[in-house]
Amino acid sequence: MVSLSNHDGATHGRIVTLRSHCHPERSQCHLSAVEGRRTKDDNARSPQTGKMTTLAARADELRAQIEEANYRYYALDDPQITDAEFDALLRELVELEREYPELRTPDSPTQRVGAAASQRFAPYAHARPMLSLANAVSVDELRAFDERARKLAGAAVEYVCELKIDGLAIALDYRDGSLTRGGTRGDGRVGEDVTANLRTIRTIPLRLRSTSFDPSTGSGQAELRMTGFEVRGEVYLRKSDFERLNTERERESLPAFANPRNAASGGVRQLDPALTAKRRLSFFAYQLAVDEGDRSTPKTQWDALARLRTLGFPVNPHVHRAATLDEVIEYCTNSERKRDSFDYEIDGVVVKVNDFAQQERLGVVARDPRWAIAFKFKPREARTKLIDIAITVGRTGTLNPSAVLAPVQIGGVTVKSATLHNVDYIKNNDIRIGDTVLVTRAGDVIPRVAGPVLSERTGRERKFKMPQRCPVCGSDVDHPPDEAMSRCTNAACPAQAYERLRHFASRGAMDIEGIGDVLAQQLTELNLVRDIADTYKLNESALADVPRMGKKSIENLLRNIEASKERGPARLLYGLGIRFVGTQTAQILADDFGTIYAMAAADEAELQRSDGIGPEAARSVALFFKQQPNREMIERLREAGVVMSAPKRVKTGGALSGKSFVLTGTLPNLTREAAAEMIVAAGGKVTGSVSKKTDYVVAGSEPGSKLTKAEQLGIDILDESGLQALLE
Ligand code: IVH
Repeated sequence: MVSLSNHDGATHGRIVTLRSHCHPERSQCHLSAVEGRRTKDDNARSPQTGKMTTLAARADELRAQIEEANYRYYALDDPQITDAEFDALLRELVELEREYPELRTPDSPTQRVGAAASQRFAPYAHARPMLSLANAVSVDELRAFDERARKLAGAAVEYVCELKIDGLAIALDYRDGSLTRGGTRGDGRVGEDVTANLRTIRTIPLRLRSTSFDPSTGSGQAELRMTGFEVRGEVYLRKSDFERLNTERERESLPAFANPRNAASGGVRQLDPALTAKRRLSFFAYQLAVDEGDRSTPKTQWDALARLRTLGFPVNPHVHRAATLDEVIEYCTNSERKRDSFDYEIDGVVVKVNDFAQQERLGVVARDPRWAIAFKFKPREARTKLIDIAITVGRTGTLNPSAVLAPVQIGGVTVKSATLHNVDYIKNNDIRIGDTVLVTRAGDVIPRVAGPVLSERTGRERKFKMPQRCPVCGSDVDHPPDEAMSRCTNAACPAQAYERLRHFASRGAMDIEGIGDVLAQQLTELNLVRDIADTYKLNESALADVPRMGKKSIENLLRNIEASKERGPARLLYGLGIRFVGTQTAQILADDFGTIYAMAAADEAELQRSDGIGPEAARSVALFFKQQPNREMIERLREAGVVMSAPKRVKTGGALSGKSFVLTGTLPNLTREAAAEMIVAAGGKVTGSVSKKTDYVVAGSEPGSKLTKAEQLGIDILDESGLQALLE
């Protein structure tokens, strides 16, 4: 209950209390805007009729905005304003109508608890109204609630504290132990009959657990006598299921759900129950009402929860019985602190008077019971401007778009940037630079742009395009058609140094014992290793700079690095960390091509000719070797003495068996050393000077005298592609 100083001339006017109309099923009821409107109220106290007209216009405007928000929220499942903003609008209207009852209209949204049920489902009339809850957003408001409860009860009051699950409230009807009907809350009196959909939710029992009669307590018998009763609770989506659902939607190019609550609410309202089932909704029961008066009917909320449990309903385990308000406050504080540790979203704590007889005594005012209150946590959603989309390059070369935001407060933290996941996410959700966007933030997790606020579009927004070159190193960006992420194709890209080194040194690759997480981190941070070829430049004096590296470990490490040079082309290829090249693929290519150079010179089609090499791998390998920095890195590896070739699997003798070659001039793709290795690997011989015994001269640009001599002797002259053809 908010204490609001109501100005009528005096500096401190009389205190009135304002009942907060919490939006049913909405989580973020909030009082923020109340304070700031005091000046408007000051004006409103003026007797001038002109002011009255202004206020009436304001009330109309508020009603229209609230109706629109309700429609978007309930009918379209596509809210465009945050819950906190919605609550601020509603509270302003409530306050205005309370102050000036003549402004109240019968169709004002304040006159009902929620939106009317949609026409898509049969109506579900509630035997007892489904109430909403007043909010407390501060300890003071909790205190006011407690004081009033104790006063009205005329006795000590015990409370039950429950987590406020952020989903949607439903009612379930059981007859003779079986679920007969289930419905949404709707406007509190009539909801939607969604029985078929609710039946798909696995945690909602279709039949009650067969209870064993316990003669010592008589409890089993009691349950069997409870023939007709109603259970209420919350349908929600686990955070893990929400992530999965959004990943699936992304794959199908559908816009993501802004939060688990919207996904749950939409899930319950599917016309095809099979679609509800696919969302994997969950359920927690928190209310039990028995039709026929029965001696065994629970007398307290605490016992009702226990009964729900024995009947087979999922009841949230984090419930607490509090004898004092201090205990309640402690529970609220702890729950808010722990809120990220639960696999479901909670947006507050529901505090209920435990004793049902006391609940009755306290009663209901309008739609809010006086025996319960919702303590609301700080909201975690806000709207702000998307100023720009920036690209950062991740450790694995992924290009990650991130939102540059106009700074905004969310849950007590100033948020200036948020993740946008990937290009597809931006496209599917139609997020544009300049948009007003909805940003959500959960604890320490990076804030996320949930989507654009379409009603705020001006037409001046710009669509985003992923750069074609890596913003860190300028190399080609690859976006495989079936993948969400774009990647930098340069293995030497500084952004990727650490991950690349870890992989290069790993057991299945070059197996350099000693280079684990810690050392890889140190080597890259100290810039001793910028790309994997630098590994072979490490020496005693460079390693002496690494903290906690002793003489002995330096010696061992250098020995291991030296040994790794002999691993051969398959493991080297794997160690390069080319996308889609696992150990198997690397082995096939090494077997077929014999040397790294041959692979580097092959085009996509040639690579794909190898058995077991698919188009994805072929494409990825070709793109990797096309990058100049990658070719240079390979050359540095070769210079360091890393073995690039393995004896090729040769059928009879080898394609070039017994043939003698001379290399001259610069070849377009291969270095001379590389070409020589390939010739040798295929059984040929490379000599330095041209003679009658020379079979082929391979000539590049600026060949010089060797070419002239070859021409004089009538020796076959090849260019690089001629050599490649022979090698095949
Ligand atoms: S009790 C009169 N208990 O919060 C009591 N509600 O506005 C009505 N909710 O509509 C509900 N967790 O959707 C209760 N443990 C809990 C709850 C809970 C979530 C939701 C429910 C209700 C809203 C309160």
